[in-house]
Amino acid sequence: MSFPARRLRRLRTSPGMRELVRETTLTAGDLICPVFVQEGLRTRAGVGSMPGIERLPLDDINDEVGTIADLGIPAIMLFGIPASKDEAGTSAFDEGGIVQRAVSQVRQNFGDKIAIMSDVCLCQYTSAGHCGIVSGSGGGAVDNDLSVETLAKIAVSHARAGADTVSPSAMMDGQVTAIRSALDGEGFTDVSIMSHSAKHRSSFYSPFRDAAECAPKFGDRKTYQVPFTNARESMREVESDVNEGVDIVMIKPALSYLDLIAEARRRFNVPVAAYSVSGEYALVRGAAEQGWVDERDIAEEILYSIKRAGADMIVTYFAKQAAEFLQP
Ligand code: PBG
Repeated sequence: MSFPARRLRRLRTSPGMRELVRETTLTAGDLICPVFVQEGLRTRAGVGSMPGIERLPLDDINDEVGTIADLGIPAIMLFGIPASKDEAGTSAFDEGGIVQRAVSQVRQNFGDKIAIMSDVCLCQYTSAGHCGIVSGSGGGAVDNDLSVETLAKIAVSHARAGADTVSPSAMMDGQVTAIRSALDGEGFTDVSIMSHSAKHRSSFYSPFRDAAECAPKFGDRKTYQVPFTNARESMREVESDVNEGVDIVMIKPALSYLDLIAEARRRFNVPVAAYSVSGEYALVRGAAEQGWVDERDIAEEILYSIKRAGADMIVTYFAKQAAEFLQP
């Protein structure tokens, strides 16, 4: 008998054969497109560390969402940059706030043609730039329970404006419980929660802080985000969100955390989202601009890898580009 009997290359002989044995599919339908809306902006503004990504004035939001919807992307994730910040983050739950206005405008214009997800956090809205409320003055600690109350108010204001899904990214303990009961108390029982369940303390977020003007003014986020060394702790975060009644869990960042995406997929019967964050985009984009890698090919491979690891959906800054090259 000739050696070897098992030839795995038999299944790679033609495009048709390769297609038949393909194990992972990726379509525009798997993607969530981030959208930044900035209060008081007159024209679109670029983001230095994220070439190709823009902050939009409210007036441009419908155009942008139209483009996204036409590409077959089923959802947007809205981030707001308010004109004013204060210690209590009041611009975050203002009925006339920038995100609330953007949400209601999109809802009015698009009906149910695109799912509206909104980021629920405080770092863009507080003077301290932390994801929760800082107690005391002059660089105190982030007060968990006070922050959770405010996060619930923000979530309700987004729901009232017409959001389908609220997405808390503050990493406060009990945020899902508080948001769920506040939503239900106001009659928003059908508004879902996609929690940034296991959001790790990461340097991959720095371009985003540039985009959203939300870098902490003192200290860092180590007292609330999960250390990137800890997989079990990460799964405890996911588990507690599941116990709190979350609808979709998220692992974030994505590319350096594929093991945790796979683990969450294996352990829990809830949809798993992965957030391929700003730094992941910036690395690819920067190398591509130097001519060192092919942007489309690398982006495609990264997105497939995240899907293969077990993500049901991916928040990515490549959403529009990917939706184009994934066109059948
Ligand atoms: C803050 C928030 C961050 C991101 C999403 N929401 C930054 C942070 O925690 O500092 C990062 C997203 C990205 O990097 O693309 N609530």
